[in-house]
Amino acid sequence: MITHGGSLEPDWDRRYREAAFEGPKEAHELVRTYAPLMPRNRPVIDVASGTGRDVLFLARQGLSAAGLERSREAIRLARGAADREGLDVWLVLGDALSLPFRKGKAGAVLVFYFLERVIMSRLVDLLAPGGLMLYETFLRKQNELDRKRDPAYLLEDGELPGYFRDLETLTHEEGVFDIGGRKRAIARYAGRKK
Ligand SMILES: C[S@@+](CC[C@H](N)C(=O)[O-])C[C@H]1O[C@@H](n2cnc3c(N)ncnc32)[C@H](O)[C@@H]1O
Repeated sequence: MITHGGSLEPDWDRRYREAAFEGPKEAHELVRTYAPLMPRNRPVIDVASGTGRDVLFLARQGLSAAGLERSREAIRLARGAADREGLDVWLVLGDALSLPFRKGKAGAVLVFYFLERVIMSRLVDLLAPGGLMLYETFLRKQNELDRKRDPAYLLEDGELPGYFRDLETLTHEEGVFDIGGRKRAIARYAGRKK
């Protein structure tokens, strides 16, 4: 495992540089399912957007999509993929802890495989009425299934929907799923701002 500063968290720039990059993967299932319900006239914000699999998918659907990402290398790869397809996406190099977006404007907020508990209420605040929150990430029990991740960035069972009590729940499921042929202990949530 690649770590930095003695932490269990990966050095993402290095990871992205060293991975054989064959273009961003297919969009997450939750994004493919809920894209048709996203308001068309509002931007979608993908927090910790990686190499852009979801923003690129949404841009192809004609939505205005922004990815916020701290890894310069991930932004570079996402930009290259967007340019190759001639897609207009907004890729922001920045820290999710400082969320550089205006409140109440987003048609959807996406967070996949990233967790910073201190920003959960601010993520909800970004949504416009009718906007969707899509969230999916690992549960603590993922550490029993593969490499050790820092438990500080893993969800407790049942924790995720607790952050979204003011939203109308569209989907909430937790458990061990087969994703891309691998066992993943995850929580998945989709909700709508009233
Ligand atoms: C597991 S990857 C998930 C990427 C993407 N959401 C996906 O599912 O394909 C986690 C991402 O979070 C990014 N990241 C970590 N800390 C961050 C922060 N404080 N602000 C923004 N991005 C961050 C990493 O650079 C990495 O791209």
